[in-house]
Amino acid sequence: MNDLLDKLCQNRRLDRAEWRTLLEARHSLDRQDLFARGLEERRRWYGDQIYVRGLIECSNICKNNCLYCGIRRDNRSVTRYRLDRDTILACCGKGYGWGFRTFVLQGGEDPGLTPDWVAETVAAIKGRFPDCAVTLSLGEFDRDVYQLWFDAGADRYLLRHETADPVHYGRLHPPELTLAHRLDCLRNLKDIGYQVGAGFMVGSPGQSADTLAEDFCFLQDFQPHMVGLGPFIPQKDTPFAGEPAGTLEDTLILLSLVRLTLPKVLLPATTALGTIHPQGRELGIQAGANVVMPNLSPPAARDKYTLYDNKLCTGDEAAEHLAGLKQRLAAIGCTVAVHRGDFPNS
Ligand code: 5AD
Repeated sequence: MNDLLDKLCQNRRLDRAEWRTLLEARHSLDRQDLFARGLEERRRWYGDQIYVRGLIECSNICKNNCLYCGIRRDNRSVTRYRLDRDTILACCGKGYGWGFRTFVLQGGEDPGLTPDWVAETVAAIKGRFPDCAVTLSLGEFDRDVYQLWFDAGADRYLLRHETADPVHYGRLHPPELTLAHRLDCLRNLKDIGYQVGAGFMVGSPGQSADTLAEDFCFLQDFQPHMVGLGPFIPQKDTPFAGEPAGTLEDTLILLSLVRLTLPKVLLPATTALGTIHPQGRELGIQAGANVVMPNLSPPAARDKYTLYDNKLCTGDEAAEHLAGLKQRLAAIGCTVAVHRGDFPNS
C-alpha cells in the first residue's frame, strides 16, 4: 500500500484502479505516517498559518429536497429565515473588526435570493470592505447568473460535488438533481474565473471505495482551489435519520489524501468534523487542513441552519470567540492569518 502512497506523493495522481485499491485499504495505512505527510505538505505551502473565513448563513429556505440535508424542502420542522442586506453587512462589519478578510455567504437554494439581490449584496460588501474576499455558496444557477455575481465582485464559489459517482448521486438526491448538471455548474464557475470549491461528505449512505475512487479521480482532473470535506451526520427529520454518521478517523484519512493529491488546495477543517469530536478541527489541521470557517451569522439564526443534528454554533465555533479559537490553534503551533487567504498564485 505504501508504494501507492509514494506514487501519489510523486505524481499527484493515480489511475482509477489504483485509487480503488488504496481507498479499499485505507484503514490499514499507517495513520501517523499518512497524517505526517499531509501536515508536511500543508506546511510547505502555508506554514503554520491558518486561514479563517466568516460564514454567514443567509437563508435556510431551500427549494431542493436532498435526502441528507436538514433544510430540505419537505422538512416542516425548520423555522425558515432569510437575512436582509443590512443584517449581512452588520455581520461583515463585526467580522472585519475581529480580523476576518473573507466572508462566505452560504444558503439554501432560496428563490427569494434573486440574482440581482445577490449581486447588489456582493457589491455592497466589496464597496464597504474592499480588502476582503467574498465567497458565495448558494447552489446551482445558470452561467449568466454566476457571471453577474462575478462581475459584481464575488471571488470564490463553493459547490460541493457531493459524489462523483452518478448512481451514488442518485441515491443522495431527488431525480431532478443530476451529477451532470452539478459538474456543468462547477466547470462554468471555474471558466468564469472564480476560485472554486468542490467536495463531499465522508460516510454518506452508499459511499464505497468505488465511489470514493470516482471522487479522487474527479478532484485530480478538475483541480479545484478548495475542497470541503466533512463527515455525514444524520439529521432527525430527513430520510437518512437512522443512518450512521461518518467517522473522525475516515475523515482525517481522506483529508490527508486530498492534501497529497492537491498540495496547494484550501482545505477546511469543517464544522461537521468539530461536531463529531471535540478536537476534530485541530486533528483535521494536523492531518493537512489549513482553513477554519467560524460562524458569523446572527446568533438568533444559527440554531435554524440545521443541516444535521447537534451542529456546533457556539463556543469556539462562533466567530465572536475568535480569541478562543486562536488559543486552540496556538496549542497546536498555528496562528490565524489576517488577510484574504487566496489560493496561492491565483
Ligand atoms: N451531514 C453533513 N454534511 C451535510 N451537508 C448537508 N447535509 C449534511 C449532513 N447531514 C453538507 C453538504 C452541503 C454542505 C453545505 O453541507 O455537503 O454541500
